[in-house]
Amino acid sequence: MKFKNIWTSVIIFYTIIILLCACGKQQQDTPDKLYLGITCYNQSDTFINQLVTCLKDKLSQFENDNFEVTMTIRDAAGSQRTQDDQVQELINAGCNILCVNLVDRADPSEIINLAKENNVPIIFFNREPVAEDMMRWEMLYYVGADAKQSGIMQGELALSAIQANKNIDRNKDGKIQYAVLEGEPGHQDAIIRTENAVDTLKNNGIELEKLCCGIANWNRAQAQNRMMHIISQHQNNIELVLANNDDMALGAIDAYKKLNYTESALPVFFGIDGTDVGLNAVKDLELAGTVYNDKEGQAAAIAKLAVEIISKKEITNKYTYLPYSKVTSDNVNDFLNKDK
Ligand code: GAL
Ligand code: CA
Repeated sequence: MKFKNIWTSVIIFYTIIILLCACGKQQQDTPDKLYLGITCYNQSDTFINQLVTCLKDKLSQFENDNFEVTMTIRDAAGSQRTQDDQVQELINAGCNILCVNLVDRADPSEIINLAKENNVPIIFFNREPVAEDMMRWEMLYYVGADAKQSGIMQGELALSAIQANKNIDRNKDGKIQYAVLEGEPGHQDAIIRTENAVDTLKNNGIELEKLCCGIANWNRAQAQNRMMHIISQHQNNIELVLANNDDMALGAIDAYKKLNYTESALPVFFGIDGTDVGLNAVKDLELAGTVYNDKEGQAAAIAKLAVEIISKKEITNKYTYLPYSKVTSDNVNDFLNKDK
């Protein structure tokens, strides 16, 4: 009996030693350094610029004595060729995770091939690759938000405004004459936002008359130009402007200001994003509402995912979508003070 006990103790002792060795080895395999290579489709895009600033902040929060975080940020300035070269350069520089905000969301092949050959995982963000491309390697992830939800919320904001203020229907014909300013063609956040905003109004009994739709590629100056043109065609008849993002809504407001329109002749404007300029315009009652695109949440999700991948944690979701929120002058201060 005594003999048996000794053997049991010996076996337990060696099992513990083997387990300890295995743990030690695993720790050795885990790099204690995260070197993130980030490339953006265009850093002059207001929302992307703020999202990247948030990302720097969220990543630095993971840094401690045992875990070093470094990042290099590149701006592809609208060229997919440039972005492909940047990915090669970031891999050569030793990045162990890539964060890619694709220029052309339908053309990530070159980047995926490079990453796969060099075994560097990719977290795509904001510009979603098609599902087929996402399936090409298990180390591809996406962080973003659900375009449909933002469209529905913009429609709901416009619905509440129209129901609360009968004067929005300025010519009192029982219909709302509207114009749309759309983001880049082919972007998951452009057509889906427009369709869902318009459908939400229609499904809630608002009669609509579409006057015009202009593409302004998320850009304030382009939106101002498009809107000047739309106003020259429709003068005082526009009652509502639905813009796929805040910068384009602000560009539309710029156009009216430039033409010296009086306040009573202005339509109501709605944006999406809740960028700093967008929120301030809501506070100043120039924008009737916006839909908050949670850049802090997206940045935190990207940072957490990057750390988990490096630490070889098991990751079950390839996709992370952060929820949007509605913003009006009633709650805008909560968003303006978000990170303070
Ligand atoms: C959208 C955002 C736009 C623009 C675009 C760039 O989600 O609403 O303002 O930044 O992404 O891909
Ligand atoms: Ca009307």
